[in-house]
Amino acid sequence: MPDTDALPGRELTYRVVAMPADTNAYGDIFGGWLMSQIDIAGSIVAIRRAAGRVATVAVKEFRFLAPVAVGDLISCYAELREIGRTSLTVHVVAEACRQMDAHAEHVVADATLVYVALDSDGRPRPVATAG
Ligand SMILES: CC(C)(COP(=O)(O)OP(=O)(O)OC[C@H]1O[C@@H](n2cnc3c(N)ncnc32)[C@H](O)[C@@H]1OP(=O)(O)O)[C@@H](O)C(=O)NCCC(=O)NCCS
Repeated sequence: MPDTDALPGRELTYRVVAMPADTNAYGDIFGGWLMSQIDIAGSIVAIRRAAGRVATVAVKEFRFLAPVAVGDLISCYAELREIGRTSLTVHVVAEACRQMDAHAEHVVADATLVYVALDSDGRPRPVATAG
């Protein structure tokens, strides 16, 4: 039975600006770059909740919903959705601001990622449940 006690809700965990070095051969922001930012954002929540090392074990769904341009400020909002015995499922939504205009934020991608808490030998370790 998944532990859904005291799940904290969505939080801004990570912000980054898309730079020219993050573009593909056509000058568009590379999808893999955005995937990596979303993985980092989700892992911040998982590491905090697991109180230590985690690894990404699965990306259940990843959607690219709008293009990202060089200079966009990307804000990643992460929400812990489920805690298993050793796993943590996190949903991440990435929003972009053109020219850093915080009033013009729009969703560019979202994903559900599963992380596994690891011990110092890289083996799954139980995540302590709340209470
Ligand atoms: C993470 C890893 C140690 C887990 O090992 P494993 O033998 O699969 O461990 P288990 O089968 O005990 O699964 C551990 C947990 O992950 C979950 N899990 C495993 N594969 C999953 C998948 N495809 N989707 C969702 N959850 C999954 C299991 O349900 C279990 O959760 P629970 O304990 O909460 O019930 C191993 O798969 C690994 O090292 N993978 C590579 C991780 C990595 O390098 N990530 C970065 C890639 S660049």
